[in-house]
Amino acid sequence: MRLDKFLCDLQYGTRSGIRKDIKNGLVSVNGTVTRKNDLQIDENRDEIKYCGKRCIYRKYVYYMLHKPAGTVSATEDRREKTVVSLLKDAGRNDLFPVGRLDKDTEGLLLMTNDGPLAHELLAPGKHVEKVYECTLAASITEEQRQTLAQGVDIGEKRLTLPAKVSVLEEKKIALAITEGKYHQVKRMVKAVGNEVLYLKRIRMGALFLDAKLKPGEYRELTEEEITMLRTHTRTVPTLDDVDAVIFDLDGSLVDSMWVWQTIDIEYLNRFGIKPPPDLHHLIGGRSFHETAVYFKELFQIPDEPEQIKADWNRMAWDKYSREVPLKKGAGAFITFCRENRLKLGIATSNSRELVENVIAAHGLNGSFDCIMTSREITKGKPAPDIYLAAADALGVVPERCLVFEDIIPGIQAGKAAGMKVCAVFDDASVSQDAEKRELADYYIHDFQELL
Ligand code: URA
Repeated sequence: MRLDKFLCDLQYGTRSGIRKDIKNGLVSVNGTVTRKNDLQIDENRDEIKYCGKRCIYRKYVYYMLHKPAGTVSATEDRREKTVVSLLKDAGRNDLFPVGRLDKDTEGLLLMTNDGPLAHELLAPGKHVEKVYECTLAASITEEQRQTLAQGVDIGEKRLTLPAKVSVLEEKKIALAITEGKYHQVKRMVKAVGNEVLYLKRIRMGALFLDAKLKPGEYRELTEEEITMLRTHTRTVPTLDDVDAVIFDLDGSLVDSMWVWQTIDIEYLNRFGIKPPPDLHHLIGGRSFHETAVYFKELFQIPDEPEQIKADWNRMAWDKYSREVPLKKGAGAFITFCRENRLKLGIATSNSRELVENVIAAHGLNGSFDCIMTSREITKGKPAPDIYLAAADALGVVPERCLVFEDIIPGIQAGKAAGMKVCAVFDDASVSQDAEKRELADYYIHDFQELL
């Protein structure tokens, strides 16, 4: 890009001011002062200094605007004042609003030039939550609250998705919705027999309106806000475009990661070996058999892999029958899926015996249409094999399968199989949470979020 544009984009001044500064020798490129405005530079490689200070190029910029009433959410308009015109002083000409607020609506509007992020935030399938403060014509009734929470007929093909309603004051509610239909909030409130008199957006995904910003004011997002927005746009999935749900077992469907850590310690203790602290990561994704082979080699275990596996199974048997709970909300979610005629599968690197043991312990015998284990598929995750085999057995194309996974190789396996993947929080992988969110399409803390 041209040197003067580069500095202008970084807001070092107006184009004409910057040109003067370049002519006056205030700018150097790779250690040499240049006086050429139109010098072509590589913004990612060249070292540009302005008044002796290094300039770091930012491709994307992010502003939080407190949209005032009376402005339209557009980049250009022949008659009305646009939100983009409010950010004139930002010195960028490539900003656009992420989504729309009605002309009379106030509140949080993200302004950026980051198209991919805007797409993530607005894509209907992502269901990013938006929270509005609504002043109503009349106090909300319990019936109105319940209808909004269940889904409302606003004249579209389907009811609106369930909204969360909190009563803030008499005649004032906070409404959280996960769609972005035209005039959605006003139409929802009208459909239940009330009326919105004033509307203000206070949150979008993980981004909250800064209470210090008055209507018409704006500020840049902090690095922390940008990261939060990026990672937290991974939201809960819907089951609308899904025919099958496939669960990883350990850490995803059942809370069992602690079992294997305990068994590893107890097992290695038998041979007088202290497990290395990163053992859990070293194993991650390997099939049961692969792990046994790995243990034999790494710790010089005299027994054959078959014997090692038999010992582990014996040790795990007891714990899986009596001590391993389902992940929070998993039982109710399985019931919900069955009621909605979704096929259900399990694809795990664990052994068939233990899977059958733990699902029986929770009364889930017969709930799964397919169980793929290390017995059928020896190649471990991140290879997609086990997920592809499960989809095949369920008779569902991979694109219509939704996978629940708690570890990175598992998420990678589901994605490599061409499936939608929802990362599941688990204590054992908490240090990799950001990466899990980044790799997966969705993220849940527990299954209750899906009910
Ligand atoms: N819903 C509305 O009705 N108006 C807005 O501005 C945003 C959501």
